[in-house]
Amino acid sequence: MHDAMGLLVLLLLPLAGVSGLPFYNGFYYSSSPVGNGHGEGLFNGVKLVVDTPQETLFSHQGANVTLPCRYHYAPALASPRPVRVKWWKLSENGAPEQDVLVAIGLRHRSFGDYQGRVRLRRDGEREASLEMQDLRLEDSGRYRCEVIDGLEDESGLVELELRGVVFPYQPPQGRYQLNFHEAQQACEEQGAAVASFEQLFRAWEEGLDWCNAGWLQDASVQYPIAQARRPCGGLGLAPGVRSYGSRHRRLHRYDVFCFAAALRGRVYYLEHPEKLTLAEAREACQEDGAQIATVGQLFAAWKFRGLDRCDAGWLADGSARYPVAHPRPNCGSLEPGVRSFGFPDPQSREYGVYCYRPR
Ligand SMILES: *[C@@H]1O[C@H](CO)[C@@H](O)[C@H](O)[C@H]1NC(C)=O
Repeated sequence: MHDAMGLLVLLLLPLAGVSGLPFYNGFYYSSSPVGNGHGEGLFNGVKLVVDTPQETLFSHQGANVTLPCRYHYAPALASPRPVRVKWWKLSENGAPEQDVLVAIGLRHRSFGDYQGRVRLRRDGEREASLEMQDLRLEDSGRYRCEVIDGLEDESGLVELELRGVVFPYQPPQGRYQLNFHEAQQACEEQGAAVASFEQLFRAWEEGLDWCNAGWLQDASVQYPIAQARRPCGGLGLAPGVRSYGSRHRRLHRYDVFCFAAALRGRVYYLEHPEKLTLAEAREACQEDGAQIATVGQLFAAWKFRGLDRCDAGWLADGSARYPVAHPRPNCGSLEPGVRSFGFPDPQSREYGVYCYRPR
């Protein structure tokens, strides 16, 4: 496209004459382009430079965030030039590339899921930052900010990550029961989404170890091993995230890794005189002005609020668990984590309940 436009400008030059600048599509071009300059942002020795932060930006579900992007010319130009700004999200995890926003002057257009949630920041010159509202789990990823000034276009990358916690999930029927679509549904029911490889990898770096293979967002099946051992792929393999590769979304069955965002509300163990059946547990939370917590909420509270309680309680999916932030004797294993008792008989009265109250 650059070459075609360059050619077009060269063809227009004789018509524009030597005194004025050629005008095309809202952009002024230098009347004597220097070299081809593509990718280097050079015109007449002036360079277009786009700045984006090196570090990953962290935010959380429901928050508003600004993805910073500024541009300048080196050496500086005396008067501002009109530019076009384009933001898009890079393709990853099997999701296609997505247009986010295009802005020309004061006009802008946003696309798809981003409509009504994004706009360009306007408080400053050479500002191309993107303001995004009401963040969703799917918003994490890498975004490209492209500034187009006539023939030049330069871009920078912004990486956005939502704070959250990865947890393995098995349904009541047991191990390796979920095809990909059921895996997505299982995570949704836990207030979570299927984790991406990046999210699982970060969780592995933080110590996640799980000996059952689970689906990820790109329909690959993998499992994180912190310490090599015989039943989990053997001693010969180094610790790491091990992959079975891509699997058939409908025919193959595994567990799943879910990703739950950090919470705004509160998860707590309900102080109650007696142990409860599952049905009584649901009711008891409601009577307390809350809801029985999901597995995702319990993991998020454990990870981000340091929820620590040695009493097993019912959760919305019918499992019983308890969160340990500070391991100690007589309270499960010696690693922090959420312990599971699986899916006990719903009529049994051996457990309390964890409730969730949105703020
Ligand atoms: C995000 O911005 C919108 C519009 O400015 C505002 O109404 C909303 O309260 C903000 N949300 C948060 C979580 O700050």
